[in-house]
Amino acid sequence: MAVAPPLLRVEHLTMRFGGLVAVGDLGFTARRGEITALIGPNGAGKTTVFNCITGFYKPTEGRIAVVHGEAGLWDELEALTRRGDRHLTLANGGLFLLERMPDHLVSRQAKVARTFQNIRLFSGMTVLENLLVAQHAPLMLASGFSLLGVLGVASYRRAERAAIDKAKHWLALTGLLDRADEPAGALPYGAQRRLEIARAMCTDPVLLCLDEPAAGLNPRESAALNELILTIRDRHATSVLLIEHDMSVVMEISDHVVVLDYGVKIADGTPEEVRNDQKVIAAYLGVADDEVEAVEAEVGL
Ligand SMILES: Nc1ncnc2c1ncn2[C@@H]1O[C@H](COP(=O)(O)OP(=O)(O)OP(=O)(O)O)[C@@H](O)[C@H]1O
Ligand SMILES: [Mg+2]
Repeated sequence: MAVAPPLLRVEHLTMRFGGLVAVGDLGFTARRGEITALIGPNGAGKTTVFNCITGFYKPTEGRIAVVHGEAGLWDELEALTRRGDRHLTLANGGLFLLERMPDHLVSRQAKVARTFQNIRLFSGMTVLENLLVAQHAPLMLASGFSLLGVLGVASYRRAERAAIDKAKHWLALTGLLDRADEPAGALPYGAQRRLEIARAMCTDPVLLCLDEPAAGLNPRESAALNELILTIRDRHATSVLLIEHDMSVVMEISDHVVVLDYGVKIADGTPEEVRNDQKVIAAYLGVADDEVEAVEAEVGL
């Protein structure tokens, strides 16, 4: 099978907090149409990588690029970097340097959406309102940013209709349609996690970044989540970058796995390759490399 073109390229990414190197010289590629998992022990730097990709942190060093449309746009990467611009938009697609963009532009222009390790919803708003707020930008654009536009113009009413239709589509896919009018904060935990994904999908991302979406879910909810993520990849032309602690989820749905330990990449490959990697086993079991064999024997590998 032909290798899919890159969608996201992370190069020489470093994030320091004072003396702590949370992420050190990290490079990896997420390909179009794939689920890429980012795994590693607690404190390995996974969420920090997400914060750099999505514009919440400005990396100390490194380049983070996304291409929409034609893969040939990657040829423009060096020229764009030299020019000091944030993005290049052409008729056949766009090239975006995320490390130069604030979070709202990463989501709106580069079309990279995320969920949070600690759920962040508008808990006093209803489920439906949370999904409409996510579509605020296209709605305001349709209004011409004027009260008159909001009150009367047909283009605004069309945009509003489209926003509600999109919200309903995602409520149905996440099993939340019958809870649309409840306050988000009143939903059970697993439903809030699904609502976060629905909200991110309402921004029409090309890349969806999920930070431990299965955390705190029961086995049934976790299986439903796997299905949802596969549907997003296969039916909505959205690639996925997934941080996950649950190895059964990672092994079951990922196309490609990147492993971090103390901010450094220690493995990068298929789930099968990574599972059998000595460094990965050592990192997860918390022992030095030369002790791996002994530990493996102990756990029966
Ligand atoms: N804003 C910050 N200021 C200072 N240190 C930070 C900050 N954010 C993260 N760190 C540190 O960077 C390191 C990596 O943290 P990060 O949250 O990225 O790890 P993680 O892999 O997501 O861990 P977990 O699996 O527990 O979520 C940790 O040592 C953490 O304390
Ligand atoms: Mg984290």
